[in-house]
Amino acid sequence: MSKFLALIPAAGSGSRMGNDVPKQYLPLSGKPMIYHAINTLCGNPLIADVLIVLAPHDSEWDKYDWSEFSGKLRVFKCGGDTRAASVLNGLTAAQHALGISPEDWILVHDAARPCLSRSQLDKLIDELADDAVGGLLAVPVADTLKRSNQENRVACTEPREHLWQAQTPQMFRYGLLAQALQNAANTQITDDASAVEAIGLRPKLVASDSYNFKVTYPNDLALAELILQQRNSQ
Ligand code: CTP
Ligand code: MG
Repeated sequence: MSKFLALIPAAGSGSRMGNDVPKQYLPLSGKPMIYHAINTLCGNPLIADVLIVLAPHDSEWDKYDWSEFSGKLRVFKCGGDTRAASVLNGLTAAQHALGISPEDWILVHDAARPCLSRSQLDKLIDELADDAVGGLLAVPVADTLKRSNQENRVACTEPREHLWQAQTPQMFRYGLLAQALQNAANTQITDDASAVEAIGLRPKLVASDSYNFKVTYPNDLALAELILQQRNSQ
C-alpha cells in the first residue's frame, strides 16, 4: 500500500512580507502561521508523516512547543536557496531517515497557506489517489487579465479561459517528484507541478477556492486571521 506523506517547505525568509521574523512564524490566530498548515495536515488520518523543511540556521522553530504533533512531525534543517531546492533536500533527507518508497504520495504544502481546509485536503487526495500523474489544488482565474507594456499601460487583454491559479498542496508520487525536481535544478520553477510538467507530464487541476491563498504581503495577514477566526467559531 502506498503511504501518504506531507512535506512543508518552510525555509523562506518572507522578503515580500518585510518582517525580521520569517513570515511562517508571524502570529496568526494565537499561533505561529505554520502551525495552522501542520494542524490540518496532521489531522488527516491518511497522512502518516508530516515533514518540515527548515532553513539550516532557523532560530524560531525551537521557540514553540510542537509536542501535540509529535507522532507525525519530522523536522529537517536542510532548506535550500529556492523553494524547489528546499523540497528536494527535504525529500532526500526524509528518504534517508524514513525510507520512502517510489510509489508513496508526497503532498507538498506551503507553510504560508495557513487557511487550507480539511475538506479541500480531502478532495485533493480523493481525486488524485488513483491518478497516474498526480496534481494540485488550483482556482480558475476570475478577474479579467491585462498584459502590460513597459510603461504599465495595457498591451492587450488575455483570455482567461482555461487559466488557473496554482495553489498547494501539490501531490505527486515520491519517485516521480524527486526525479522531476532533480531535472529542474537550476531552472526558475516556483512550484512542484512545473517540474513534473517539464518532463512532459500533465498534472491534474483539482478545483479549490481563494480561501487557500498564499500569505505574501503584510495586508494578507488580516485576511488570513479573519478566515481562521470564522472557521474556529463554527
Ligand atoms: N520556501 C522554502 N525555501 C526557500 C524559499 C521558500 O522552503 N528557499 C518556502 C517558504 O517558506 C514558503 C513556501 O516555500 O512556505 C512558498 O514560498 P514564498 O511564499 O515565496 O515564501 P518566501 O520565499 O519566504 O517569501 P518571499 O518570496 O516573499 O521572500
Ligand atoms: Mg519566495
